[in-house]
Amino acid sequence: MKVLVIGSGSREHAIAWRLSQSPRVDKLLVAPGNAGTAAIATNLAVAATDIAALAQAVRDHGVDLTIVGPEIPLAEGIVDRFQELGLRIFGPTKAAAQIEASKGFAKELMRRHGIPSADGLSFDSYAEARRFIQQHDAPLVVKADGLAAGKGVTVAATREEALAALRASMEERTFGAAGERVVIEEYLEGREVSVFVFTDGEALSPIVAACDYKRVYDGDQGPNTGGMGSYSPPEFWEPSLTKEIEQRILQPTVQAMAQDGRAYRGVLYGGLIMTRQGPKVIEFNCRLGDPETQVIMPLLKTDLVDIVESVLEGNLTETPIQWSSEACVGVVIAAGGYPGEYQKGIAITGLNDVPEDIEVFHAGTKTSANKGDSSPEVITDGGRVLTVVGRGPSLAVARERVYAAAQGITFSGSFYRTDIALRPGDITMAGR
Ligand code: AMP
Ligand code: GLY
Repeated sequence: MKVLVIGSGSREHAIAWRLSQSPRVDKLLVAPGNAGTAAIATNLAVAATDIAALAQAVRDHGVDLTIVGPEIPLAEGIVDRFQELGLRIFGPTKAAAQIEASKGFAKELMRRHGIPSADGLSFDSYAEARRFIQQHDAPLVVKADGLAAGKGVTVAATREEALAALRASMEERTFGAAGERVVIEEYLEGREVSVFVFTDGEALSPIVAACDYKRVYDGDQGPNTGGMGSYSPPEFWEPSLTKEIEQRILQPTVQAMAQDGRAYRGVLYGGLIMTRQGPKVIEFNCRLGDPETQVIMPLLKTDLVDIVESVLEGNLTETPIQWSSEACVGVVIAAGGYPGEYQKGIAITGLNDVPEDIEVFHAGTKTSANKGDSSPEVITDGGRVLTVVGRGPSLAVARERVYAAAQGITFSGSFYRTDIALRPGDITMAGR
C-alpha cells in the first residue's frame, strides 16, 4: 500500500523508518519531510498544516493510508476532513484531539471521572484567576489552555511569578487565543514520564513508557527546548506501574471520551508525574511524543501498519502488540545558539559513517542544491537537527553506543547533552 506520513521532525522520520520496514508498504511519502525522510521516502512539498493541500496530494498520489505526526493538524480537524472525503487516516478527530488542544477540557474530563491529576481549575476570567492565585500557596503551575508550541506552561515558584505568568497569558496575550483561558494547578513533585498507548476507542495496547529531557544543557540547566534527548524504558519502570496507569488513568480516560461522544482513536500520550500518592496526569497529548518516538519506534516489534489498521477497524484486541525488552537512548544534536537564534544551511559531516546498529533520525535538515558533479550534501535547516539513537540489552549499553556514534556526527556549532539516560536524578527537574 501507499502510506503518507505528515510532519517534518525526527518523530516523523522515526515513524517513516518503521513503516519503511513493513512488507505491507510499497510506497512511502512524507509531507513535508526532511533530508532523512527523503532517503527512505518521497517528500511532498506540502505543509503539515495545509489540510486541503494534503487531501489533494493524497488523491493525486493514490495514498491508501495517512498517519499524522504533529498535533496542530489533528486539533484543526484533519481527520474529520479526510473522513468526509472517504480517505483513510490515523489519528483522533478534532473533538477527541481536544484532550490536548484544551487543557481546561482535559482537566474537567479528569475531574468528572476521578482520574488522578494535579488539583486545579480552569479560568476564563482574569479577575477570578488572580483571586485564585492570591488564595493559594506557591509553587503553582499556570498553563495556557490551548496549543502554545510547548511554551504555554509556567512552573511558578512564587505567587508573584504565577501572577506574572497569568498577566502574560490573559492580559498581554503572549500565546494569542490559546492563552485567553488558563488552567492553574498544584505543583506535583516526582519523576516525570511519558506513556503511550494505541487505542481503537475501547481497547488499549500495552503501555510503552519513555523519559524526555526539556532543558538545553547537562544537569537540566538553561532554557526549555523541544526536547534534547530521551530513553525507554525508564529505569524505575515496573509491571505494577503499567497495571496501575492502565486501570486508573488510561482506560478510564478512553472510556470517558467514548461516553462524551468523542471516541478517541489513535495514540494517547499521558504526561505523568510519579507522586508519592501514585501516578498523576499533568497533560494529555493526542499524538506520539518528540523525542520519545525516536526511542520507542526501534522497540516496536509488531508491524505498524497492522496496528494502525486494527485501530481504524476497531479490532485492536485482535492484534497483539509487542515491544522489545531492549533499551533505547536518543540524543538530539542541535545547532549552536538553539533554543535561541541559530544559523541554518551548515553542512553536516559523518552521516555516512554511522555504525549499523545506530539510527539517525533527522529533524531540521535538508539536501543542498546539487553543484555540478558533487553529490548533494545534507545541511542544517532548524535548531534541533538530528536524533541519534542507540539500542542495547541495557540503558548503559545503549547509552555507550549512542554517544560513541554521536561524536562522529558534527557541523559547525553543533552540540548535544552528554547526560541523557545517565543520572536519573536529573530527570526529576526536567521542564522546571
Ligand atoms: P507541558 O507543556 O504541559 O508539557 O508542561 C511542561 C512541563 O511543565 C512538564 O513537562 C512538567 O515538567 C512541568 N509541569 C506541568 N504541569 C506540572 C505540574 N502540575 N506539576 C509539576 N510540573 C508540571
Ligand atoms: N515530548 C514532549 C512532546 O512531545 O510534547
